[in-house]
Amino acid sequence: MLFIVALAFLVSVRSLPVKPTLHYESIFNFGDSLSDTGNLLISGDVDSPTIGNLPYGQTFFNRSTGRCSDGRLIIDFIAEANGLPYIPPYLQSVGTKFSKNFTDFTKGANFAVAGATANSFNFLKKRGLSVTMLTNKTLDIQLDWFKKLKPSLCKTKPECEQYFKKSLFFVGEIGGNDYNYPLLAFRSYNQAMDLVPFVINKIINVTSALIEEGAVTLVVPGNLPIGCSAVLLERFNDGRRWLYDPKTQCYTPLNVLAKLHNAKLRKGLMTLRKKYPHAKIIYADYYGSAMQFFSSPSKYGFTGSVLKACCGGKDGRYNAKPNVRCGEKGSTTCENPSTYANWDGIHLTEAAYRHIANGLISGHFTKPPLNNC
Ligand SMILES: *[C@@H]1O[C@H](CO)[C@@H](O)[C@H](O)[C@H]1NC(C)=O
Ligand SMILES: *[C@@H]1O[C@H](CO)[C@@H](O)[C@H](O)[C@H]1NC(C)=O
Ligand SMILES: *[C@@H]1O[C@H](CO)[C@@H](O)[C@H](O)[C@H]1NC(C)=O
Ligand SMILES: *[C@@H]1O[C@H](CO)[C@@H](O)[C@H](O)[C@H]1NC(C)=O
Repeated sequence: MLFIVALAFLVSVRSLPVKPTLHYESIFNFGDSLSDTGNLLISGDVDSPTIGNLPYGQTFFNRSTGRCSDGRLIIDFIAEANGLPYIPPYLQSVGTKFSKNFTDFTKGANFAVAGATANSFNFLKKRGLSVTMLTNKTLDIQLDWFKKLKPSLCKTKPECEQYFKKSLFFVGEIGGNDYNYPLLAFRSYNQAMDLVPFVINKIINVTSALIEEGAVTLVVPGNLPIGCSAVLLERFNDGRRWLYDPKTQCYTPLNVLAKLHNAKLRKGLMTLRKKYPHAKIIYADYYGSAMQFFSSPSKYGFTGSVLKACCGGKDGRYNAKPNVRCGEKGSTTCENPSTYANWDGIHLTEAAYRHIANGLISGHFTKPPLNNC
């Protein structure tokens, strides 16, 4: 009897969530490395970045694409669910010195840049957080790119209305790096906590601006449970065991930071819904969806250590010491990335992103649900 129940449960987990087909005709995405499909690599902001080589991309693309994972990202699964091509990175259109590289953005454009923050370098500097950033392609810059691209998508107001009615806008995840840079540079936890209202203000500001530009359906994801992030666990490496969640072994103060960010974001979105009643503003609960596999890893196929990076140096508890990063000399890649949630210490594996994407597509982790277009 128990066996049958267990079997039925396994079957239901395997076939869940049901994959409804979404029907958006274009996708515009803003964010950071969680959704960058090539912009940082093309931008040249980082000299010979590790993401420009295998093992990045090994699971799906068989080559590096500039995605910070072994394969597809959440946004790639969203594109697939809509029957759309993978969204081309905006900077691909910049092309060579002599000719503009024509890229078809009519089915969407991806403005996300790995390493991007919501607030600018100068903003953080003014707050005493003069940290080294990989890129200055903030959320505001990404919004400017969208405004520049818009005239090539539609001309007149009615034409734009018609076009954007069938478009899906993803604003984030973004803002995670506003916390990551200071935290990884050994600034205090309280300094990161104090940034939360400013990060939320920026996300809400850019989301409003997009609505005023014509966006109608917007998904605004919250932060992941960063207390379960291998690099941050390595960085805090706190001897005070009571600060770790006994069930997941994630670091509670950082999950408190993520939850505060998410609560304030949801509140900000509530205000936006009142201001723009015609728009469909969807909160995506990345935290809740990821917490499923951090809480019960084996149930979701994460039979490697769920807090350890698949790719990286072998020292330390989490394979995420800063001296050897994934793709650098001395790093190794686990046998089967689909059994790991964490790919390179910072980013998740395709398997983890697939799980989160399914949670969005099914409507279980989107409020209101994404699936009734
Ligand atoms: C990558 O290689 C695998 C195995 O050779 C193949 O099944 C898959 O289709 C390839 N993927 C792409 C996107 O070319
Ligand atoms: C130009 O765009 C194509 C895809 O449209 C891409 O494969 C190619 O790498 C791009 N070239 C440059 C120089 O960015
Ligand atoms: C970002 O901007 C700051 C201030 O203008 C500059 O010092 C820094 O070099 C820039 N970083 C990148 C990666 O462009
Ligand atoms: C966003 O913030 C800027 C700068 O504070 C402001 O000028 C702009 O009006 C805001 N945009 C929206 C749509 O609220």
